[in-house]
Amino acid sequence: MKTYDDDDAAVPLAGQDPEGSAQPEQPAPVRLPVAELHLHIEGTLEPELIFALAERNGITLPYAGLDELRALYEFSDLQSFLDLYYSNMAVLQTEQDFADMTRAYLARAALAGVRHAEIMMDPQAHLSRGVSLETCINGVASVLATSLEDFGVSTLLIAAFLRDQSEESALEVLEQLMAMDAPITGIGLDSAELGNAPAKFERLFARARDAGLRRIAHAGEEGPPSYISEALDVLGAERIDHGIRCMEDPVLVERLVAELVPLTVCPLSNVRLRAVETLADHPLPAMLAAGLNVSVNSDDPAYFGGYVDDNFEQLEAVLGLSEFDRVRLAANSIRSSFASEERKTELLAELGGAPG
Ligand code: ADE
Ligand code: ZN
Repeated sequence: MKTYDDDDAAVPLAGQDPEGSAQPEQPAPVRLPVAELHLHIEGTLEPELIFALAERNGITLPYAGLDELRALYEFSDLQSFLDLYYSNMAVLQTEQDFADMTRAYLARAALAGVRHAEIMMDPQAHLSRGVSLETCINGVASVLATSLEDFGVSTLLIAAFLRDQSEESALEVLEQLMAMDAPITGIGLDSAELGNAPAKFERLFARARDAGLRRIAHAGEEGPPSYISEALDVLGAERIDHGIRCMEDPVLVERLVAELVPLTVCPLSNVRLRAVETLADHPLPAMLAAGLNVSVNSDDPAYFGGYVDDNFEQLEAVLGLSEFDRVRLAANSIRSSFASEERKTELLAELGGAPG
């Protein structure tokens, strides 16, 4: 089986010519080919890009500079992060802004080993600021359309709905997205979890199912294990974003294992949002040991200290993940994606002998 040591220069990255003369001085690290299944595109806005877009759009930010902004990246819980995340979206005004943000993510994700990405965006967060659906969707979609050729990353787009807003609002936006034939593969459910149980969105998810859309939902990040069951039973969610609190309910764990329910875990996010105290306390090793279908994802990498490769690196450093577990996590991500069977086969072959 192939190994994926960071300093193993024998296996070239896609697009790298091992015999070519223009080799970088340091060999580029070889990463596991993975699918990123839990990624909010607005959460990839790096501080530098926030300032660059603000300047381009003549927006005065409430921070004097990068250091002042970065000093705010100390979160006490999900809501404290969401406040900053929504506030920083003010710099996204034009299709070009959305396209630049998406391009920056894909360039960085490709270096991290991401070969397929399922990208969430929050249309309601832009509509409420007076930015049209056409602007945000077309800006992101224009880059995704050629992501495989340009970055070696196949992609698809998921419209996520804000669970702290009404179901009526979500239904209205979903109808608008369908009316404009937006290139979305599915819907998701995100934002403030506590007090906004999945069942609030039963009609939204039924409408999405009837329209042939795939369905995912955040559950069990801050919310109780019962939200995970509810997302599965009431919403028909096909994947659970986060899901870490399932570990508090052994019967639920048994069910998730039996049904192979994918859980898109985001370790650095969980630490930064204080869902777990430290990375050493993260339940990922226990989740793997229980046989859960977990993958590793970055959630909002610009805010949480790292992309997928950073998540893997820190997990390895702190929790000592084995090569077997790393390959298993990568294989889980590919198998749990909504990519075509052909693409999954291709990526699993690239992974080389993924464990069962
Ligand atoms: N929106 C962006 N990141 C999120 C997260 N980690 N949980 C819920 N909603 C989000
Ligand atoms: Zn998320």
